[in-house]
Amino acid sequence: MSPETTPTLPRRAFGQTGLTVSPIGLGAGQLGSIQLAEKDAERLLFTALDSGINLIDTARGYGLSEERIGRLLAGRRAEFVLSTKVGYDVPGLSDWTYDSVAGGIERALRMLRTDWLDIVHLHSCSLDILREGGVIRALEQARQAGKIRVAAYSGENEALEYAIHSGEFQSVQFSLNVCDQRCLDHTLPLASAHGLGVIAKRPLANSFWRYEERPVGNYAEPYWLRAAVMGLDPGEMGWQAFALRFSAFTPGVHSIIIGTTNPQHLQENLALLAQGPLPPAQYQAARQAFQRHDQGWVGQI
Ligand SMILES: NC(=O)c1ccc[n+]([C@@H]2O[C@H](COP(=O)([O-])OP(=O)(O)OC[C@H]3O[C@@H](n4cnc5c(N)ncnc54)[C@H](OP(=O)(O)O)[C@@H]3O)[C@@H](O)[C@H]2O)c1
Repeated sequence: MSPETTPTLPRRAFGQTGLTVSPIGLGAGQLGSIQLAEKDAERLLFTALDSGINLIDTARGYGLSEERIGRLLAGRRAEFVLSTKVGYDVPGLSDWTYDSVAGGIERALRMLRTDWLDIVHLHSCSLDILREGGVIRALEQARQAGKIRVAAYSGENEALEYAIHSGEFQSVQFSLNVCDQRCLDHTLPLASAHGLGVIAKRPLANSFWRYEERPVGNYAEPYWLRAAVMGLDPGEMGWQAFALRFSAFTPGVHSIIIGTTNPQHLQENLALLAQGPLPPAQYQAARQAFQRHDQGWVGQI
């Protein structure tokens, strides 16, 4: 890349981990779809890195995602912070055991064609499994062995709170968006107080506004319903800007991982980020809309 095109996307310290991350990361869930052509997968990944995005979030469960990242970005490994998730689906091993986490890390190292993984999450395991302790021990041993840099938990609500209090993780990932705000009152401040890195998933509330009718069975459905109850109104800036600027600039959030398969959307999102935080009155109105209408709305896995 020539010096003229070197991106100026800022970096944020990722808690006390020593890593720094771009405020927008690439959520590589959709990258795993077999419907996405190889050349489009490549274009997406290269556009992300060439635009200054340095965090890529994948998982064992995201279809072809890990394999594609490994194959297409092996030569650019030093340019990005690689986040994945483990705990299940390792041939011959029971899910959510010490062995499935240790084996999942070995498998991810192979699939992602790398000697180290920057951030490895337990991918939404239950509170009981966390309490049992084996999965946490496996992560910690991998960290001490230098296979992973940051032991992380991805999940919601009670399990997330337990993970933060446990002192065993250096970062967390949870849902945070205009329709998923319960975490803002408690878990996000708690994570900040513990000096953890914070990744916000589903940061655009799965773009629920694309659906005129209730999207029954779709991932966006709970957010579509909440938004209707909350009476959310993005005003002149439109939904995309409103949702993105809300999540990206909530204090304590280090990176929002936006899922997309579309390089143009990725560029549009970076342009919206450059607009900065929402006007304070609009941010507060969104906070109050959630608080006023909250029907016990918990964090969505
Ligand atoms: N840990 C977990 O359990 C967990 C759970 C859910 C998600 N995640 C992570 O979080 C990432 C993001 O979550 P998500 O994808 O569910 O939700 P999201 O980022 O809130 O929304 C993604 C949707 O927004 C659309 N979009 C993005 N930019 C757009 C733009 N500029 N204009 C119009 N539409 C746009 C995308 O469609 P297009 O493809 O058309 O752009 C996609 O359908 C995932 O990829 C994954 O890495 C983790």
